[in-house]
Amino acid sequence: MKPRRSTLSVPGHIEKMLVKACRQQVDVVMLDLEDSVPLEAKASARNRVIQSIHELDWRDITITFRINGLDTPFGYRDLLEVVEGAGPKIDAVVVPKVDHPKDIHFVSRMLDGIEASMGFSHRISIEAIIESAEGLEKITRIAKASSRLIALVFGIVDYSASIGARLISISGHGEKEEEIYPGHRWNFEMSRIVMAAKAHGLLAIDAPYGNFKDPQGLQRSTAVACALGYDGKWAIHPDQIDIIQQAFSPSEEDIERAVKVLEAHKQAKEKGLGAVAVEGRMVDQATVRLAEQLYAQAKFLNMV
Ligand code: COA
Ligand code: MG
Repeated sequence: MKPRRSTLSVPGHIEKMLVKACRQQVDVVMLDLEDSVPLEAKASARNRVIQSIHELDWRDITITFRINGLDTPFGYRDLLEVVEGAGPKIDAVVVPKVDHPKDIHFVSRMLDGIEASMGFSHRISIEAIIESAEGLEKITRIAKASSRLIALVFGIVDYSASIGARLISISGHGEKEEEIYPGHRWNFEMSRIVMAAKAHGLLAIDAPYGNFKDPQGLQRSTAVACALGYDGKWAIHPDQIDIIQQAFSPSEEDIERAVKVLEAHKQAKEKGLGAVAVEGRMVDQATVRLAEQLYAQAKFLNMV
């Protein structure tokens, strides 16, 4: 699968932003029909999204789109019209407010029918946003609901509303939270999502950081997501892309360290040893697996 380090969310009804989005050095662009689109533009945004998928030059950017919730009058129509209109160029449909595996079953079955009816050979994937207590509680069943599912995304703002948590900033995690909570307030939810995703071979994608004029805050928020095992993070503004792309790519230092570990392991194996010391630190099979994973990622990104 192509990397999904950064996903730029673009309001589907704003032509200027769609044009700007296709020029970005970003892994994924998510054409949004949900919360960034006002009610009066819901229908016209679908056509704008279809048109822009066909007419703009997206180069090698992965294209996804987000439908409205399945409990709204818009969600099923978004799915039907946009997939019929541009299916072969769409990598995945992003489903918001996934509270139950039946939401994923519904989307998956609809995709079966639309793809068959249109004669598409390309199979569209699904990304599920977990953004309620109910969704988090049912996350294991959601994670195995369809072979089309490729990612679980943390929707932090709606999640906060669903549990009645105080929203100290509108930035997602990383801004001012240390003032009201010792430690990282979202550690449980974020780790629960990572655990479900990784147990079922899915990617874990973090919520966006809303304060787009605060690069340090974004860096902090992204570093936490990386440390917890996330594979990528949403961006809501082009200025955020670089920081996210870099944070989710191995650094030169990371690659050097991985190479040292792999070399030490090779030598140890030749001597019939399991664990060895590298620069005063113990290296065993688990460390080797971590180094192999990092090296494979660097190779995938053409960094080695
Ligand atoms: N995608 C593409 N282009 C974007 C963009 C985005 N998400 N956000 C901003 N831009 C463009 C602007 O149109 C502007 O272009 P210009 O220089 O050609 O005029 C440029 O980037 C600079 O934007 P700026 O003036 O700093 O911000 P803004 O006030 O125009 O927009 C937001 C701020 C928050 C309204 C805007 O970034 C946005 O709508 N983001 C996406 C929100 C979203 O998708 N939410 C749902 C997912 S959580
Ligand atoms: Mg949401």
